[in-house]
Amino acid sequence: MFSRISRLGVRILNEARVGQYPVTNRGYCRDHVCRLFNTVRNLPFSTTTNEKAHTEGSEPKDKISVTFVDKDGEETQIKVPIGMSMLEAAHENDIELEGACEGSLACSTCHIIITDVAYYNKLEDPTDEENDMLDLAFGLSETSRLGCQIIAKPELDGIRLALPVATRNFAVDGYVPKPH
Ligand code: FES
Repeated sequence: MFSRISRLGVRILNEARVGQYPVTNRGYCRDHVCRLFNTVRNLPFSTTTNEKAHTEGSEPKDKISVTFVDKDGEETQIKVPIGMSMLEAAHENDIELEGACEGSLACSTCHIIITDVAYYNKLEDPTDEENDMLDLAFGLSETSRLGCQIIAKPELDGIRLALPVATRNFAVDGYVPKPH
């Protein structure tokens, strides 16, 4: 659209310069110039594309970048939609995070470790129910959480999540209390 307008503008100037159209004592031939301007005015005018380009950079992201690190240290980076849990995101991307109770806070098999404490501090505090389940997890660390309870939000863009070397499904393995 804008290139077409530019072309018409150039055409007005070129035609006037080479004297292809008579020039009045007030400038270029008014009839011809008016016809060209009317052509521009009648173009189906839309600023949608341009408006989008102006606002694209400031639009909030609808996905964040998350890196899963498996027990062998291999990294998989995925895009996770805002509002999706890390457990769901892992399953959608074939990452081996169990989630035996499918997010109902009745297991600890979705245990993950946030590798950077700065990201850990951006999370909501765990509920008592989550802490109870975390107490049953293998390899509990200071930055352990349950993957089904971490919901993607813009502040978590760039988070790295390590999968523990083992998980415990106490429904199968039996309850083993954590030593105090
Ligand atoms: Fe069971 Fe997260 S899947 S608590």
